[in-house]
Amino acid sequence: MTPRSPNAEVRIRPLAQLTTLRVGGPAEVWTVDDDEAAREATEAPFRPIGAGSNLLVSDDGVPERVVALGRPYNDVRRFGAETDVWLGCATPLPGLVRRARQAGLSGLEGLLGVPAALGGAIAMNAGTRFGEIGEVLEEVEWLRDGRVERVPASELGLGYRRSELPDDALLLRARLRLARSTPERVAVALAAVDAARSGQPKAKSAGCAFRNPPGDAAGRLIDLAGLKGLRVGDAMIAHEHGNFVINLGDATAGDVLELIDRVRAAVDAPLELEWRRWGF
Ligand code: EPU
Repeated sequence: MTPRSPNAEVRIRPLAQLTTLRVGGPAEVWTVDDDEAAREATEAPFRPIGAGSNLLVSDDGVPERVVALGRPYNDVRRFGAETDVWLGCATPLPGLVRRARQAGLSGLEGLLGVPAALGGAIAMNAGTRFGEIGEVLEEVEWLRDGRVERVPASELGLGYRRSELPDDALLLRARLRLARSTPERVAVALAAVDAARSGQPKAKSAGCAFRNPPGDAAGRLIDLAGLKGLRVGDAMIAHEHGNFVINLGDATAGDVLELIDRVRAAVDAPLELEWRRWGF
């Protein structure tokens, strides 16, 4: 399909290329470089994609359009010393965390190592026990029903790894409020988060698979059940951390789902998937 907008690019692509787990079948992927292109992309049913973490896509792909914000929505280079800042939702968190440290701005330390784009981080209220994006988020601009609207963070239903964003809204920009600190102090806080994450695998994964049940840790329960190293096809429970499913190379969504089912059957507590699932 050829878009009307000169700033939209449309291609059929395997979503495995766009997800951190490297799993998922084809979809019509719209990459939009301005709000007009985004408006056209969202005229039909769509699903927004950020960095593709925390996401499991079916091997059959999805029938909806998949909308990705292009480079103009990545403001990591523009991000400097301001404490109150509007950023495009394709801005990658790793770059944001790094630049905040350089600028001596505090508030993003808890997001160190989260492989998300800003929009996806908001949709999942990404974070660690050291902090989540919702704590520094003031408001967003989204596209909905063809209109750009401003919505305060308090209306997004942010909770532990969840939000209540409407399915038909595409996040475009977000305003963050950070606190002035010093690069040295920010670096100390980052070191603590880095230490807490040091036991996580470096292999291809979609981040933690399950939400932690109240008062416990899914990784601990999976470990206790002796499931590390459990493998279906090329999907495996990481040896480093029980709450990570890694892709050893050619895992399919079918492998991943079967592995998840086996884990659930073997663990003596209800485990709720944290990942978004598409196409099942
Ligand atoms: N544990 C085990 N075995 C394991 C893994 C963990 O016994 O295989 C134990 C640890 O020793 C610790 C407890 O379980 O006592 C918690 O583990 P950890 O400190 O690794 O934290 P987590 O609860 O597993 C959470 C977040 C991570 C985040 C880390 C660091 C969730 C589901 N997970 O993990 O977030 O990076 O804290 O703060 O909330 C994510 O959401 O995708 C994610 C990776």
